[in-house]
Amino acid sequence: MLKLENEIKITIHEDNTNPFLLDHFQSIGKEYTATTDSLEVIGEIPKDLHGIFMRNGHNQVHEPIGVYHTFDGDGMIHAIHFEDGKAEYRNRFVRTTGFLAEQAAGRSLWPGMLEPHLGNRRGWGSIGAMKDNAGTDVICHAGKLIASMSQCSELNRLDPRTLEMTEPDHWNLTIAEHGGICSHYKVDNDTGELMFFNFSERPPYMHYGVLDSNSNLKHYVPIELPGIRWPHDIGVTKNYSILHDLPFIFDPELLAKGERKVTFFNEMPARFGVIPRHGTNDDVKWFEATPCFILHLSNCYEKGDCVVMEGCITTNPRKPAVGKQDDRAIDKMMNQFDKGATQYRMHRWTFNLKTGKTHEEYLDDEVTEFPTVNNEYVGKPYRYSYNALFGDKPYWMRGLKKYDLLTNSHQRYEYGEGRTGGEVQVGLRKGAVEEDDGYVITIVTDMIENRSECVILDAKDISQGPVARIILPERVPIGNHTCWIEGDRIDGERV
Ligand SMILES: [Fe+2]
Repeated sequence: MLKLENEIKITIHEDNTNPFLLDHFQSIGKEYTATTDSLEVIGEIPKDLHGIFMRNGHNQVHEPIGVYHTFDGDGMIHAIHFEDGKAEYRNRFVRTTGFLAEQAAGRSLWPGMLEPHLGNRRGWGSIGAMKDNAGTDVICHAGKLIASMSQCSELNRLDPRTLEMTEPDHWNLTIAEHGGICSHYKVDNDTGELMFFNFSERPPYMHYGVLDSNSNLKHYVPIELPGIRWPHDIGVTKNYSILHDLPFIFDPELLAKGERKVTFFNEMPARFGVIPRHGTNDDVKWFEATPCFILHLSNCYEKGDCVVMEGCITTNPRKPAVGKQDDRAIDKMMNQFDKGATQYRMHRWTFNLKTGKTHEEYLDDEVTEFPTVNNEYVGKPYRYSYNALFGDKPYWMRGLKKYDLLTNSHQRYEYGEGRTGGEVQVGLRKGAVEEDDGYVITIVTDMIENRSECVILDAKDISQGPVARIILPERVPIGNHTCWIEGDRIDGERV
């Protein structure tokens, strides 16, 4: 079965030369449902793989107001549901309040994150001016998807089987006044709790919260920061969460004059706040570390008196200023995503709760980002991190590197010429007992063939290449974050 469910008209002007709307970023408007009896499958879909792979990404519909940033586009989720050696694909826009309003208007109503001054109505995000695009992150909790954007927005919950929007939780309004929910919330699969944060331009600048396994707001507290921050991730362990206060901030002197120039203060230490999972601002232990910026963590865990955090660090972050843009805006965005310049690499921070000291070590010289781990090991000691390798173009993920952090060895797989992948997830085999006893799943786009496919690799040896490739109905634009929903968690039956 291959069914075209809807077609949303893309109104981006043909003469718009913003590179983040072209090539592997170019939007699609068709929403499909398709089963593998109508899709070409190269290889064999494993019969012992049961669950749903989800990938979120920005897929702009309308000609933007002002300079488009690649984090502005409407959210679209691509889902591939595996069971009994078969698969079902569907892609749907995330029908947020802003998306529906712009559909009704037939044009953009909100500017993006770079030019908030062009807005003439209240919006979302930490500045309160952009659209609630929900195209950054997606995760499954209590049988529902939560899709969000990096700049914070109201909660968007979707049915993981249909990708249709569901009713928001009643506590949505409690957090909306502080910006809502930021991308990169973490689920503890043992307790079913979800830990999240948000940030805004008003003191105390951050809030931290915990949802219980039924998605009730169990804990929500202000976190006092010295000023406006733009954190992107949060770490969790069995007993703690790790909050980020990084010195890549709006220059305070310029901000006082109304200018938002994101500046890296390379003599201002990074600060990491270790907070008991249900603790308050008074319980936070702040640790100082090398000035840096972090987009994504691979994982955190406890070890004796220490909390260990691992992820990708840069000491040369870049981002265009927020405000009126000039003809250098595109170059600045290209710099932001130039992984050769920013040099994100795997790093380990060890925070000693007894001594208050931080120990740091680089784990690798090679540039990687978008690290992920097996869901079952989030917050626990783990062995494998799966990171993207990059090419010359922005957001071009040419391959995958699997780190074995126990033996300090790695495997790699490159997708091939003209092919870009994305963040991966690990789907375990039924009955698996080892951390990598399963499959690595991602979406790969072939710009030579102008098509995309879901690629399945054997997690124990990714270097062997795909065990199966499912050719999707249409090319999928490059995206952001992914999640894997185990077969027995789809309806919330297991926390
Ligand atoms: Fe992210």
